[in-house]
Amino acid sequence: MKTIDELLAEGVAGKRVFVRADLNVPLADGLITDDGRIRAVLPTIKALVEADAKVVVASHLGRPKGAPDPAFSLLQPAERLAELLGAPVAFAQDTVGPAAHDAVNGLEPGQVAVIENLRFNPGETSKDDVERGEFADQLAALADIYVGDGFGAVHRKHASVYDLPARLPHYAGYLIATEVGVLKKLTEDVKRPYVVALGGSKVSDKLAVIDQLLGKADRILIGGGMAFTFLKAKGYEIGASLVQDDQLPAVTEYVERAEKNGVELVVPVDVVTSAGFPDLKTKAPSNPTTVAADAIPADQMGLDIGPETGALYASKLADAATIFWNGPMGVFEHPDYAEGTKAVAQALLDSPAFTVVGGGDSAAAVRILGFDETAFGHISTGGGASLEYLEGKTLPGLAALED
Ligand code: 3PG
Repeated sequence: MKTIDELLAEGVAGKRVFVRADLNVPLADGLITDDGRIRAVLPTIKALVEADAKVVVASHLGRPKGAPDPAFSLLQPAERLAELLGAPVAFAQDTVGPAAHDAVNGLEPGQVAVIENLRFNPGETSKDDVERGEFADQLAALADIYVGDGFGAVHRKHASVYDLPARLPHYAGYLIATEVGVLKKLTEDVKRPYVVALGGSKVSDKLAVIDQLLGKADRILIGGGMAFTFLKAKGYEIGASLVQDDQLPAVTEYVERAEKNGVELVVPVDVVTSAGFPDLKTKAPSNPTTVAADAIPADQMGLDIGPETGALYASKLADAATIFWNGPMGVFEHPDYAEGTKAVAQALLDSPAFTVVGGGDSAAAVRILGFDETAFGHISTGGGASLEYLEGKTLPGLAALED
């Protein structure tokens, strides 16, 4: 994989460099709530600006349906990028149309343009190689060189991630190089004890990684909405909590395999519940109750791990040499259900282990809950991407940069 340093050494002055970033930031009422992903790609963009390249930044945002949709415009992230760069950024209101060409043609060396959300074009995410290839051809017309730096999207076989690099000289940006370097430490020669904390709502999103980790990790701590499928597999009543019944057989097999492999698979001993899902907008008090994990009343839903579980998980993290954390432990966006996620984040901070926080949600949680992100070992910008890397899959966006 050629890196951006090699590109800079070759010289890029006056050349049009397409930077595939991941500017897929969380938005609430049209405002960015966490700009971590924009800041993460700054080193690459700044280096290209300083080297007098004409920088064309592209990304997806959310999951629009292959047509323009103002709710998913990249305008806000483009404006935030301009603020962070301290320089104007041109914004094109289309992806490969006249506006994109005008914006790119108008660039002077050292200037930056952002084109509109790549997913406004159906070719970006198409499963059809020809349709994707046609869009990649149109994107290729905007640039001379490709730099891949959207780590959060490297697991997607999308036109801008997979097909475009094949059409242009291609290099990995600083973010991708850093992310891959860190994740390698979790897959090759990991320092033990290796403890993994997994949360998030859906167990189905985590099955493949748990499957891998059962042969790698020493301890796996389960939280978030997916914990209730584990609790149900243990035969507990889980009331109105989120559950994926179709995943019960897989979860049951994992519990058995963990025991056989000597992996400690730890599930909550208490949970914070409420009669309904809290209002995340008003954050109005929602009458939370803490109950034992095997005594969730029928009309209650579990929304966070309880304080006893938080302390238990902190103790299970305390002696780790390596920690990977993916997924919040509860509905951290509401103060009544943020304590479990805080307890795990604090345990990571207190630990001398090599720590990796993976996943858009857990990374955002760390920042939104007010933790100093620089105190964590590494906060990955990739949710699905970091999980699929740990699953041992070939990631299209990395494979495309290899050759
Ligand atoms: C992410 O948020 O994990 C990345 O930006 C990829 O987004 P996607 O899951 O919509 O492809």
